[in-house]
Amino acid sequence: MTKSTPPSLKPVRTVAELRENLARRRQNGAGIALVPTMGALHEGHLALIRAARAKAAHVVVSIFVNPKQFGPREDYQTYPRDEAGDLAKAEAAGAELAFLPSVAEMYPEGFATTVHLAGPAVGLESDFRPGHFDGVATVVTKLLLQALPDFAFFGEKDYQQLQVVKRLVRDLDIPTEIIAVPTVREPDGLALSSRNLYLSAHERQIAPRLYAVLQKVAGRLQAGHAAAAEIAAGIEELRAGGFDRVDYLALCDAESLAPLAQLDREARLLAAAWLGRTRLIDNILLAPREGLHNLPGRTGM
Ligand code: PAJ
Repeated sequence: MTKSTPPSLKPVRTVAELRENLARRRQNGAGIALVPTMGALHEGHLALIRAARAKAAHVVVSIFVNPKQFGPREDYQTYPRDEAGDLAKAEAAGAELAFLPSVAEMYPEGFATTVHLAGPAVGLESDFRPGHFDGVATVVTKLLLQALPDFAFFGEKDYQQLQVVKRLVRDLDIPTEIIAVPTVREPDGLALSSRNLYLSAHERQIAPRLYAVLQKVAGRLQAGHAAAAEIAAGIEELRAGGFDRVDYLALCDAESLAPLAQLDREARLLAAAWLGRTRLIDNILLAPREGLHNLPGRTGM
């Protein structure tokens, strides 16, 4: 088998079949990578699969719309589903196994365990989607224990989720390396998301302003402007630019996600805002200001 002719993708639906298929592949020692998704695959997901294929010989993509991470008024029922399309895209990107469990396979009757994190799961998304990260952490823990991959790939698009997964793997001694993949964007800057399908033509025009405002606020913070005022101005600009509601625009420590009053370490600027009935999230990296200690009049930093 050569790299130019990937094996055809095999869908499996039970944990037993997944383990049986992976046991055979594990024996040849070439590395197994897992890419967890909820399907409706787009170029963001495919970037994860390609990165996984570059790192490991065997790539498993899981497709499971996880009911436990949706709130009662959220879009679980209407979340886009396209199994045949997803399988074709995942295969073209280099996956060789697809795990598509049913809800009953993942959560059989009597299922009673929840993986709950403090730390990076506190605040931001959790303030607006209570219980969301319990659902994410529970399903990701299960997927990692089911597949026991050497590597698992997650997008920076869902930055708080990425930090939650990194922390749970460390805390629970799960022997998988978590690898982050940068956010894939439309040419106008909008982060790809399965939920972008919900946007009307008018909302789609407004949507890229979320990333534009993140870039603008990030630039001003890097230039040394005070965080509180810049964040307030950014929220105002999102509202004036057509967003119906801004859940948060926040400057946080890049790893713990604790709120920061000033840019004095590696940080992340994160935002969530509503366009009609669609909630968009995005984030951007901020390096600590270079040469802070060399500024005239400053000493001893
Ligand atoms: P889903 O939203 O399908 O995303 C699956 C993975 O793709 C996540 O790691 C996400 O961060 C990544 N991703 C989504 N859009 C991206 C983009 N534009 N660029 C780069 N990566 C992107 O996130 C979930 O599913 C679920 O919470 C899951 C982890 C599967 C647990 O149910």
